[in-house]
Amino acid sequence: MGLKPATNPDVEAVTIELSIDGKSVMAKGGVSLYDVISSTGKIIPAMCYHYTFDPFGSCGMCLVMQEGKKAPVRSCTAKATAGMIIRTEGDDLFQARKKAVEKHLSVHPLDCPVCDADGHCELQDMAFRHGVTNLANAKQKFIPEDTRSPVLDFNMNRCIACAECINVCKDVLMIDALQFMKKGGFNQVVPKGDLALSCEFCGDCLAVCPVGAITNKFSKYLYKPWQMKKTTTTCNYCGDGCQMYLETKDAEVVRVTSPLSWKNKWGDRAETAKGHGGLCVRGRFGFEYIDSAARMKQPLLRKGNQLVETPWLETMHQVVDRFSEIRRKHGPDAIAGLITARCTNEELYLFQKLMRAGFGTNHLDSSARYGHLNFVHASRLALGIGRSPNDWEDLTRAKAVLLIGSNITETNPLTAVRIKEAIRVYKAQVVVIDSTVTNMAKLASHPVLIKPGTEGLVIDGLVKATLELDLIDEDSTKKHPQAFKALKAAVAHVSLEQVAAHTGMSVEALKNTAAIFAEASRSIILCAEGIVRRPDGYQNVLKLIDLAWITGKLGQPGCGVNTVTEEPNEQGAVDMGAAPEFLPGQASFNDQTARDRFAKAWDVTLPEAGSGANLVEILKRCRSGQIRALYVIGENPLATLPASMEVRAALDRLELLVVQDPFLTETARMAHAVLPACTSAEKDGTFTNLEGRVLRVREAIDPIGESLPDWHIMTALANALGCQWEYESSNDIQAEIMKLLPGYYNLGQPRKVVPTVDRYLSNGYTTDVAARYRASAPSDSKNQRPFALLMGQILYHSGKLSTKAHGLITIAPNTGRLRMNPQDMERLAVGEGTTVRLTSDRGSMQLAVQPDQSIAPQTCFFPEHFNEPPVKDLMSVEVDPTTGVPSFKQTRVTIEKA
Ligand code: SF4
Ligand code: SF4
Ligand code: SF4
Ligand code: FES
Repeated sequence: MGLKPATNPDVEAVTIELSIDGKSVMAKGGVSLYDVISSTGKIIPAMCYHYTFDPFGSCGMCLVMQEGKKAPVRSCTAKATAGMIIRTEGDDLFQARKKAVEKHLSVHPLDCPVCDADGHCELQDMAFRHGVTNLANAKQKFIPEDTRSPVLDFNMNRCIACAECINVCKDVLMIDALQFMKKGGFNQVVPKGDLALSCEFCGDCLAVCPVGAITNKFSKYLYKPWQMKKTTTTCNYCGDGCQMYLETKDAEVVRVTSPLSWKNKWGDRAETAKGHGGLCVRGRFGFEYIDSAARMKQPLLRKGNQLVETPWLETMHQVVDRFSEIRRKHGPDAIAGLITARCTNEELYLFQKLMRAGFGTNHLDSSARYGHLNFVHASRLALGIGRSPNDWEDLTRAKAVLLIGSNITETNPLTAVRIKEAIRVYKAQVVVIDSTVTNMAKLASHPVLIKPGTEGLVIDGLVKATLELDLIDEDSTKKHPQAFKALKAAVAHVSLEQVAAHTGMSVEALKNTAAIFAEASRSIILCAEGIVRRPDGYQNVLKLIDLAWITGKLGQPGCGVNTVTEEPNEQGAVDMGAAPEFLPGQASFNDQTARDRFAKAWDVTLPEAGSGANLVEILKRCRSGQIRALYVIGENPLATLPASMEVRAALDRLELLVVQDPFLTETARMAHAVLPACTSAEKDGTFTNLEGRVLRVREAIDPIGESLPDWHIMTALANALGCQWEYESSNDIQAEIMKLLPGYYNLGQPRKVVPTVDRYLSNGYTTDVAARYRASAPSDSKNQRPFALLMGQILYHSGKLSTKAHGLITIAPNTGRLRMNPQDMERLAVGEGTTVRLTSDRGSMQLAVQPDQSIAPQTCFFPEHFNEPPVKDLMSVEVDPTTGVPSFKQTRVTIEKA
């Protein structure tokens, strides 16, 4: 392993002076000489170097002359020291570099005409730049191509053994799936153990490979790089908001590339704190849903029992007539709408405006209701901010991270890479508390496995341990003596021993975690699905805020309580007011000043203050017949919610169900009209990621078939209903949002949010806090069923959308099998593929099992993306009384051999 450019970018290195090409340069001592040279603006060739990982020093291209040394020096692995006199140019260096290129080329197949990297190859560029025209003693390697991986092919004939692939995988991603192996007389890159590649399939190795040795199976032999149009846009899968290049040829999406590339190799190691520019498997290989054959290409109208392809005009006439009739007969509150947080900000804004100003109803909701709103409401109540306060850089530079209820490498893989960097480069202490053996737990300094559903109790224990060990920050607590007294009283009954007995987290681990969190200078809490999508999610976030308050971790730089968003624009959905409780800007729907402002801006009378139904209430009112027409944009409640929510009965009762979606979903099949919508690859707009950064979504291809962007369809619908909207592009909507929410876009930078706990602590806290710590045992502890069944996300999928992406389904098809801990399987005497009977209080079904080491004993798991078999229907639903968030991802079950 080469030298680190700096031992730790957080540690201030001594400033040194050295001379480069006759000019005096000030630099940090101990960093790579190559970095110092490139920081002066001088770029010398470097084929095995990339700023995101440690220098490797194999290619022999970055040669420089150092005074006092006879032979050229590899500048990437040489450390900059004071007084060095360096020369980077000269015929001697040119010839030495040319020799290095010749050496690589002499064992290269030179099959450029059939290489995907042709025109995007550093070896080609270097051969051209150094005028390599004559290769003496060239020989071929004749290594068979390794095509065993579902996404990447390895052609080691082209490999220059730069190790960039190995280093990015090991150093940046901490996955370590590749290695060198001497085979057939050559050093070759092989998947670990020379087996078929088994990894996260992020494709970052492909991105940094400077030649065509690793190729993308999806785009191989299709087009040369220069034949494709490259559109910079934002990933449509999760809230990380990764930037990507959609590479297209006419209407075809050919591949996805990333800012991480061998072409983008120069930078300061400290810059990676903001992200390394890579993608995860969903972003890189999950694009095929865009031009999937299953896309809806024409509107459908129900005629009798059939959905029949119908021209747009006729369909829209029908839709408008029936909406208008229902509104006329039954009033605006007979209409409701649901929208996915995969829509852009501009569309989410338009949706709530259409519902409120067009239809005149406040019955509207988005998929942020599935959990994110628990976090938003808790954080708004306690801190006055409705989103995560910390960005990726804060997370990377944190000294302590408390990750609770989050399988982050599966849900938000690139935020996970920030925590990995915090561990590896910045030496953070990371405590992972989860009921699954997560990948992050395997890397963390303090992994803690707890019993499912006991996250809330663990937090009680952490607050109690903090008080018992006197780890409190007096500056924070003495300002609010009454509140502090009330908190102490509220947790007086909490016994660490009892918490340990119920949760499986030992008293020692509770105390140790409390100390790590309290004593670090920059401590971050990150909670996710295991908190916000579970019963008591709202209260549990408030308890985490209590923990941060008493330890002085609120409002301090680099500290805070955060969450992650699973869909790309859950934050935007809340910010744009796609919830009955919020107007745009998270203004309360009942706040008269805000109501007046929006009523004036839209020139309408808003629905009454206090009115409005959320997702669960909307479905209830559909069942009771109060809501007669439902407009569903991109949501699929029938496939998402368990049978106990009686979604089918709710939809069956409707007089009008209009579904707008790129696909004919389960919900769409029940509709009276289906409107074909575009994917984010066919429209412009913005997403707001989990850091609060507003990111551009750009149109890469024309709409498929007759599909249209959601904003376009909503504008047409609004105008047909009598509104006078003049939006001709997403930019027009953006201009309106900018006027109403000045600073929201903030040039793509997260707007600073400053949490202020003082108002809450002196206003209602003392009464609230007593109820918060009431639980003494997990709510389902009386249920005698021995196993916890968990449903959740897996890395290769995102909601149901990714199941339409051929590549992701190839990597991770629905096996229909329940994942179990191998020891449990042994105990039950069931082997892989054996059928078991799975029974909850809601019902029973048979399915096969498969072993999975990451599943803790006495738990089992089924991916939420698949409904075959319909495991979700075994789930009960618990609705949060404050936030209306329905929790349905965990229940107790018995498992018996069928
Ligand atoms: S695809 Fe990603 S995880 Fe797999 S080997 Fe390449 S860099 Fe490593
Ligand atoms: S496969 Fe590519 S990145 Fe990996 S060592 Fe070979 S040339 Fe370098
Ligand atoms: S981490 Fe999220 S935003 Fe980034 S590429 Fe993966 S799915 Fe897309
Ligand atoms: S960049 Fe220094 S040896 Fe390759």
